[in-house]
Amino acid sequence: MSDFVRIIEVAPRDGLQNESTEISLDIKRQFIANLVDAKVTEIEATSFVSPKWVPQLADADELLQGLPSGPLYSALVPNRRGLDRAIASGVKRIAVFTAASEEFTKKNINMTIEESLDEFKVVIQGFREAGGDFVRGYLSTIVECPYAGKISPAAVVEVAEKLLDLGVDEISFGETLGVAAPSEIQRLIEAVDKRIPREYTVWHFHDTNGTGVANVATALDYGYRAFDASAAGLGGCPYAKGAGGNVATEDVVYLAHRMGFETGIDLETLSRASLSVLDALGKSPTSKAQVASLASMRVPAESGR
Ligand code: HMG
Ligand code: MG
Repeated sequence: MSDFVRIIEVAPRDGLQNESTEISLDIKRQFIANLVDAKVTEIEATSFVSPKWVPQLADADELLQGLPSGPLYSALVPNRRGLDRAIASGVKRIAVFTAASEEFTKKNINMTIEESLDEFKVVIQGFREAGGDFVRGYLSTIVECPYAGKISPAAVVEVAEKLLDLGVDEISFGETLGVAAPSEIQRLIEAVDKRIPREYTVWHFHDTNGTGVANVATALDYGYRAFDASAAGLGGCPYAKGAGGNVATEDVVYLAHRMGFETGIDLETLSRASLSVLDALGKSPTSKAQVASLASMRVPAESGR
């Protein structure tokens, strides 16, 4: 079994989409450049969504120009309008996004699940025809929905199979609310593992209640090797009230390295990568591994302020 753990950095998108303090294009670009310095190789940079819905990422078209070469960049695309913007930007990887809950899908993208899948069919085909390389399918609310409550593993698997039928290259299973305990992830994995090939599966845990790293460890124990994470644990979903940030990349990298896995990421450089963004947001680091790493380098944790 591989000892390499693939980490997809989502802070520039999932981390910032929920923030009302405007972050300048320069700070976003510098943040991404810092992540590249830390040897992060996959970065979800932004979203081609409606600027009325997510004003923070209204600069997506501009941001994608002039980023450092090296990593694989991706962007969220909800519909054909987003596809046109993605193609014009030249981005080679996109992510479509739906959920296991009708209620959440409606609030998030103003579509039913079925409507979203119909729209993605057109988007994916159009992207491939335009020379796009890779399409991720996000599947949110895999354990609980803020509007519909608990979600059954069967409902998750059903939508996951439909995404695979559309020809996505991977599925990111999103624990959007960050409420799940490892026992719930275990139950879900038992169902997912029977139907969705592991090489298509990425886990996307939020860490609202401090269970994110435990959930990553659970999936690692089952043999999964791909995880989304957000530098400094930034983030949340504007359409899932109360959802905290993703599991911090620093925490996942520390855990993976300590368990003997490789990630290719330099934890010390990564721990400093988000400081100017935290500063702009008026926040201090909260990821335990980030705080510990900064302390070991004698960088005061409050330098993020
Ligand atoms: P709508 O209002 O139903 O769409 O929104 P519409 O077609 O009626 O368009 C409304 C206006 O938006 C129009 O402009 C369109 O041109 C424009 P107007 O005529 O009023 O001036 N528009 C666009 N502009 C730019 N780019 C576009 C675009 N589409 C329409 N792509 C829509 C539907 C999907 C656009 C909207 O609901 C939307 O943008 N939603 C995105 C919400 C979002 O980004 N949520 C967060 C990401 S999901 C997440 O965080 C979960 C995840 O992390 C995994 C997990 O944790 O579970 C992925
Ligand atoms: Mg998310």
